[in-house]
Amino acid sequence: MNSTKVSYFLLTLSMILISQSPMLALGDSLFEIICKDDLKETIVCLQLLKTDPQISSATNYFDLSIFIMDFALKKGIEGQNFFINLGKKNPSQAINQCATIYYNSIITAFKGGKRELKEHADIARYETTVAGDGSKNCSSAIEAEKISNPAIDDINDKMSILSDAAFIAVVHYENEKRNNGIGL
Ligand SMILES: *[C@@H]1O[C@H](CO)[C@@H](O)[C@H](O)[C@H]1NC(C)=O
Repeated sequence: MNSTKVSYFLLTLSMILISQSPMLALGDSLFEIICKDDLKETIVCLQLLKTDPQISSATNYFDLSIFIMDFALKKGIEGQNFFINLGKKNPSQAINQCATIYYNSIITAFKGGKRELKEHADIARYETTVAGDGSKNCSSAIEAEKISNPAIDDINDKMSILSDAAFIAVVHYENEKRNNGIGL
């Protein structure tokens, strides 16, 4: 082979190697992969998760799952405070239920998810669905009382997306663990 052919060969070879390597081929961070799995809400998911530097720099799905649940927990506590303050100005059964039952359940679920992830990823995954139900139930209660408040919808929508993102991250972690066969 002359040198042109050799360099063409090397170029082709390196392109093949790159296309075979998932890390190099997908320019996506792990959180972007998660958000793209969340088909309905990809854009909001990306906007939300990229604001957290830990999430955007996560390099494995265990860390990513923990960081998303940390972030969701923080947002859940903020959400609960929002409902508590709103309830002081606008007494309402639905707002009170969101501030207590539903957001308590979200907060407890994400704490449980973080605690269980390492030993019982299936329980952690279940906890993310419980958190998702908390924001859905809050939305339904608000709707049933015909309360119209974009700030409430925004908080519940974000909680719902974070619950979905945490669920997907845990599923990826479970697959990663299964494929490694070592439960790392
Ligand atoms: C939300 O509603 C579902 C269905 O009605 C119920 O099974 C679940 O326990 C509720 N979750 C909370 C936190 O209230």
